[in-house]
Amino acid sequence: MTTIFSGVQPTGIVTLRNYLGAFKQFPALQDEGDAVYCIVDQHAITVAQDPKDLRQNIRNLAATYIATGIDPKKSTLFIQSEVPAHAQAGWMLQCVASIGELERMTQFKDKSHGKESVSAALLTYPPLMAADILLYNTNIVPVGDDQKQHIELTRDLAERFNKRYGDVLTIPEIQLPKAGARIKSLQEPTKKMSKSDPNTKATIKLLDSAKDIEKKIKSAVTDSDGIVAFDAENKPGVSNLLTIESAISGVSIDDLVKKYEGVGYGGFKQGVASAVIDHLTPIQEKFYNLVESSELDIILDEGAEKANAIASATLKRMEAAMGLGRARR
Ligand code: TYM
Repeated sequence: MTTIFSGVQPTGIVTLRNYLGAFKQFPALQDEGDAVYCIVDQHAITVAQDPKDLRQNIRNLAATYIATGIDPKKSTLFIQSEVPAHAQAGWMLQCVASIGELERMTQFKDKSHGKESVSAALLTYPPLMAADILLYNTNIVPVGDDQKQHIELTRDLAERFNKRYGDVLTIPEIQLPKAGARIKSLQEPTKKMSKSDPNTKATIKLLDSAKDIEKKIKSAVTDSDGIVAFDAENKPGVSNLLTIESAISGVSIDDLVKKYEGVGYGGFKQGVASAVIDHLTPIQEKFYNLVESSELDIILDEGAEKANAIASATLKRMEAAMGLGRARR
């Protein structure tokens, strides 16, 4: 059986871009193998988090996974810090990694650039990510393009570990999203849609109300042509809205262009807003029913139990291979 593993940081409400880039692909994978989904709270604390917000973001993310289609009967959903083997194996993999290769990670360079001081863990983040993946004997890691370098490092660390200590770790493969929809800011459609954008009108969040979604899409920057056509270079705003509707509804861009032939931008924006609202409303309903429920705690308890069983077995094999602790007599 193929094992699929992915993780998401609990650092705020998921944006439409994150949803279309990552969450929308997850449910189909549950039928392709043993899927394991992790809320990586220990990765989130590599930059300072408000403790109260972090706890809420963890619950929100757990509810988001389920509201967007993860079935806890098919998949394992758990919180990283509730499975101690992650930090333990992460430490062991830090001992296999070199400072030079960690300093070459573009995400580290981006996040530390211009900062007077960053946490040591920002540098050692990738060995913890490698531990997440390797503890489950993972075959496939579905992630966005931005994580490619981290997965390559995971493979390098696993190969190095196996070469030094024996064949313990499974070498995982990356799986990039098929047609990565490039969702841009509604206000500056040449930049990506980002949850940290200070202009709140630029970003649609998964939990935005129907009224807010409509307002944001209606005030999206377009152009003065008045013609709905796809041309990412010359009509980035209109093209972005077409991309959003296409990604959310599964209708091709060509078919959408036909649908909006002769329709002005007012009607076009109304159509895009309706498609987004129709898709997100049932997700939001499921989210709110779940987020403060005891059902969510049961799901996460069961997930942690299943994850602990697998992860601690791999950890024991890693420790034995490295010679940590004592041999059992
Ligand atoms: P994070 O929390 O930044 O993002 C979670 C996942 O979403 C993907 N993603 C996208 N993919 C395509 N298009 C987009 N627009 C888009 N936006 C977000 C990210 O690539 C990622 O897959 N280091 C990871 C978390 C992590 C992890 C792991 C992932 C920790 N351990 C083990 C996989 C396996 C991160 O910061 O992702």
